[in-house]
Amino acid sequence: MDLQYFLCWRVAPLFLLMPRELHCMSVHIINEEPVYVIPGSSLVLKAHIKYGPLEEVSAITWEYEPETGFNSERVILAACPGRSLKCAGTRPNVHVNTEQQGTTLQINGYSTADSGVYTVTVTDHQGANTSRQCIVREYEAVHHVTVSINVSHSLLVCTEAWGTDPSFSWLYEKAAITQAVGKVSNNGATLIITISPICGHFTCVVSNKLGYSSDTYAAAPCETESRRTTAAVVCLMLLLSLGGVLAFLLWRRYRHNNRGERLYEHTDDTI
Ligand SMILES: *[C@@H]1O[C@H](CO)[C@@H](O)[C@H](O)[C@H]1NC(C)=O
Repeated sequence: MDLQYFLCWRVAPLFLLMPRELHCMSVHIINEEPVYVIPGSSLVLKAHIKYGPLEEVSAITWEYEPETGFNSERVILAACPGRSLKCAGTRPNVHVNTEQQGTTLQINGYSTADSGVYTVTVTDHQGANTSRQCIVREYEAVHHVTVSINVSHSLLVCTEAWGTDPSFSWLYEKAAITQAVGKVSNNGATLIITISPICGHFTCVVSNKLGYSSDTYAAAPCETESRRTTAAVVCLMLLLSLGGVLAFLLWRRYRHNNRGERLYEHTDDTI
């Protein structure tokens, strides 16, 4: 609690005095910053005005300036002068509503060019200004989802480029992740793999209000029971046929040798 606040709201009312140099008026933008707006929808900024018992709001203005850029110039979007606080927007899609306690700015058909810094300024009856700023940005769709593997730590890391409020989720072979497959980190972007050896298809789905995008990491195909049996049968058959060929070769050689001996014996006899 700062000193001015203390003097304004705690001390001054007790003595029913308001030092002329003490400006108690304050303005506060209710929206949580930064405000993200989907293009085509409406931007609504609400501000709350607080002031002492002897004060009065004499004017309110809403202004806009780009968030970055060298020759950024503040433009007035709407002004609400005088005691009546009747507001006039400078563009047809800008509407401002003002009461003594608060003011609301509404911009219909929000476009990328409306992203920037919005300032509300409240003037009190003595002509003193108080203002507050709020950053407004375009709500962006999810872009460039990528899954990469960290082999040494058995991790899959999912990244996304610049979407607003991305929310991560994982699928294994198009189904929810079970404990046997892996564990998702708290922020959702990392999957700690428990399945060993790492095999099959891991998909990271990133979504926000505008839709979703995904990427799949394809590890080696998983060895299922039937595939293992098939492999064993094929091996056995290969071994058997190899054995057959060997046996046949040996038999041929044996027969050949026998015949040679017999021939030899025969010539022996005739001599
Ligand atoms: C793998 O993950 C660990 C732990 O998060 C990290 O320290 C390491 O740098 C990562 N390796 C690669 C290649 O990204």
